[in-house]
Amino acid sequence: MAATARLLPAFAAAAAALLLLLCLAGGARATNVTYDHRALVIDGVRRVLVSGSIHYPRSTPDMWPGIIQKAKDGGLDVIETYVFWDIHEPVRGQYDFEGRKDLAAFVKTVADAGLYVHLRIGPYVCAEWNYGGFPLWLHFIPGIKFRTDNEPFKAEMQRFTAKVVDTMKGAGLYASQGGPIILSQIENEYGNIDSAYGAPGKAYMRWAAGMAVSLDTGVPWVMCQQTDAPDPLINTCNGFYCDQFTPNSAAKPKMWTENWSGWFLSFGGAVPYRPVEDLAFAVARFYQRGGTFQNYYMYHGGTNLDRSSGGPFIATSYDYDAPIDEYGLVREPKWGHLRDVHKAIKLCEPALIVTDPSYTSLGPNAEAAVYKTGSVCAAFLANIDGQSDKTVTFNGRMYRLPAWSVSILPDCKNVVLNTAQINSQVTSSEMRYLESSNVASDGSFITPELAVSGWSYAIEPVGITKDNALTKAGLMEQINTTADASDFLWYSTSITVKGDEPYLNGSQSNLVVNSLGHVLQVYINGKIAGSAQGSASSSLISWQKPIELVPGKNKIDLLSATVGLSNYGAFFDLVGAGITGPVKLSGTNGALDLSSAEWTYQIGLRGEDLHLYDPSEASPEWVSANAYPINQPLIWYKTKFTPPAGDDPVAIDFTGMGKGEAWVNGQSIGRYWPTNLAPQSGCVNSCNYRGSYNSNKCLKKCGQPSQTLYHVPRSFLQPGSNDLVLFEQFGGDPSKISFVIRQTGSVCAQVSEAHPAQIDSWNSSQQTMQRYGPALRLECPKDGQVISSIKFASFGTPSGTCGSYSHGECSSTQALSVVQEACIGVSSCSVPVSSTYFGNPCTGVTKSLAVEAACS
Ligand code: GAL
Repeated sequence: MAATARLLPAFAAAAAALLLLLCLAGGARATNVTYDHRALVIDGVRRVLVSGSIHYPRSTPDMWPGIIQKAKDGGLDVIETYVFWDIHEPVRGQYDFEGRKDLAAFVKTVADAGLYVHLRIGPYVCAEWNYGGFPLWLHFIPGIKFRTDNEPFKAEMQRFTAKVVDTMKGAGLYASQGGPIILSQIENEYGNIDSAYGAPGKAYMRWAAGMAVSLDTGVPWVMCQQTDAPDPLINTCNGFYCDQFTPNSAAKPKMWTENWSGWFLSFGGAVPYRPVEDLAFAVARFYQRGGTFQNYYMYHGGTNLDRSSGGPFIATSYDYDAPIDEYGLVREPKWGHLRDVHKAIKLCEPALIVTDPSYTSLGPNAEAAVYKTGSVCAAFLANIDGQSDKTVTFNGRMYRLPAWSVSILPDCKNVVLNTAQINSQVTSSEMRYLESSNVASDGSFITPELAVSGWSYAIEPVGITKDNALTKAGLMEQINTTADASDFLWYSTSITVKGDEPYLNGSQSNLVVNSLGHVLQVYINGKIAGSAQGSASSSLISWQKPIELVPGKNKIDLLSATVGLSNYGAFFDLVGAGITGPVKLSGTNGALDLSSAEWTYQIGLRGEDLHLYDPSEASPEWVSANAYPINQPLIWYKTKFTPPAGDDPVAIDFTGMGKGEAWVNGQSIGRYWPTNLAPQSGCVNSCNYRGSYNSNKCLKKCGQPSQTLYHVPRSFLQPGSNDLVLFEQFGGDPSKISFVIRQTGSVCAQVSEAHPAQIDSWNSSQQTMQRYGPALRLECPKDGQVISSIKFASFGTPSGTCGSYSHGECSSTQALSVVQEACIGVSSCSVPVSSTYFGNPCTGVTKSLAVEAACS
């Protein structure tokens, strides 16, 4: 086996030379991808791969290269994306692969960075995406039943899957053609829910597998969360941990297609986050226990632009607490620590690909896995105790293992990384609010950073205004009525009151409206009488209130709005919305059920029909006046603004507005809803990474709006004047919104004497001597920046977090000057964490170095 290891570099050099030759000759070299029980096998070599999900429509083409480069720098080999059927085929038979939907361009961008692609075609994708990625027209095909043994469904699924495969083949993007796609997925987590579909579900699953294979992509297919995935498909695992997973055949490798790096945000929910120490632990455990491919879901989450968010109630931000944040900036220390983990695992690759692990107990809740054959040896030592640190003995040496951590030993001796010990820097991201007025708060004149003109407005009328409205007896389900052409559906009726009706108490009557959700507004005689909304856990609404009626004709207009269609669960496609009743008036002497009365229906808003969101189309509806109505429902607003200077990511803080959708230069930046608050409880001040994680474990922002900041992709902006249009449903004051840019604040790090050396000091698994001790490294986030000041430095027992460090009882007097000397004026610096440099401020204590620096 040692021979294999020694042969590898020679082989790699030969392969590189061949590749170069082929490139010079203008040809793309076909890559052969197969698998065996250990790993994916690429051109005859087993590979240990790290992958990350980046969904192309959740960012913009100009952001793709930067995000992908950061993924590569973070140690990823593979980029995984779903394919979103609804955006590619908005109308049956009319395909769209332009702009943000240019799948081939995205795949090529990944290839240009030298990375592989895992293409998860689905075409059901879940993904917190509207209707799980299915186009709505699919629902209206006669006789169709989704995701089961149903001919109309299978025909459509096959047609679209083949279309995607053909498009990729046409562009030469499969590895078998010299392209980057090494893997593909069909369906998505069907095994989680297939029992609800019975025997036809199983038949469908087998059909889907066979159909996929018949498309002849030349690369393996996977089915995730499908224990009985038929050969040759590989069944893979999704979850927060997958170390205990085993594939359904000894001939298949252990693969993890979704390692949830955080969790998604709902309107009305608190903000989830997952500590990197736990994520790193999960990753290391997976490779420790025989895994060779894992994918972060998400590595960059991005933004649910347009009305693409699923639901109900999925928020517009799909940040996911991923290693690259919504705006495309690295999130530290998550990104940096995982990069270090990936390097540590790659140092073990020569051992991981030649043998299976053998396990030995290191005591209760402690386990070693050793990959050893010939002269190659790599080991992982795990402490899976959620509470206590342990000292274990392995191969005659003592190792200190913090609770809930894995140490990685690429030579079976030296610890190059422990998942709970972060060597990477921490950065604080700041939202800097831009000054849009030339008068400062103290009254002085200043130069504004952004010019925002006055607001014009257009009133969205209450009730039916369109000619094509439909009148029918009874209440209709919303999605079947609108086909999701709009979030909005008006339900209008009227009653004539004489004054002696049994449902009256004087001039009042109690109105009850029951709706499947998601949001309801009740208008009586053109005036708002109330509103209600469901939540992510139950979208149902039961609204009731006394209303005032007048003698003669009374108009009842109910506006029902959806906030993203269901994307998960058995039969999710049949989950309804809207006012299906009962709708009832009642008084002391009786009631009037309006559920089967004549109702008139209008799909969508008049402003949507008039394209008010598109400022290139002039409309007489707009009123420009110095004063504009505020805190009034159903109103469109429009202004012009200049783009913020520089290239920092831009967002709008919608605090002051209610709920609606916003467009920049005619492009939707998604739904906004800053008044939807997270519950008061369920959050933790600081999340303990030790012990099993779940999506409710670490939440922040309880009692606060789920989302106030909404990303405006830079490419939506143009030099000079830009248009911003809002449709406000509930009522707000647009003068309160502000523009912000996202910047990195301080750069910090804290490294202790007990930490391993920086991972970069190890270049191969064969390097048996630790040349360096622990060191603290700082690096300015942007090109061209240098460290301009050291705001804090302490060697001893400092405490606190970035931005609020404080000295402990034990503190070296030289810390600041030593760090200043090493770091000021350079873009990155490395400072050894040792008493040799700082003097020894106290003995018998493990000391650490904490630094906060500013870059400019
Ligand atoms: C998985 C699903 C993904 C995504 C994830 C939660 O079950 O496969 O598409 O929805 O959950 O973010």
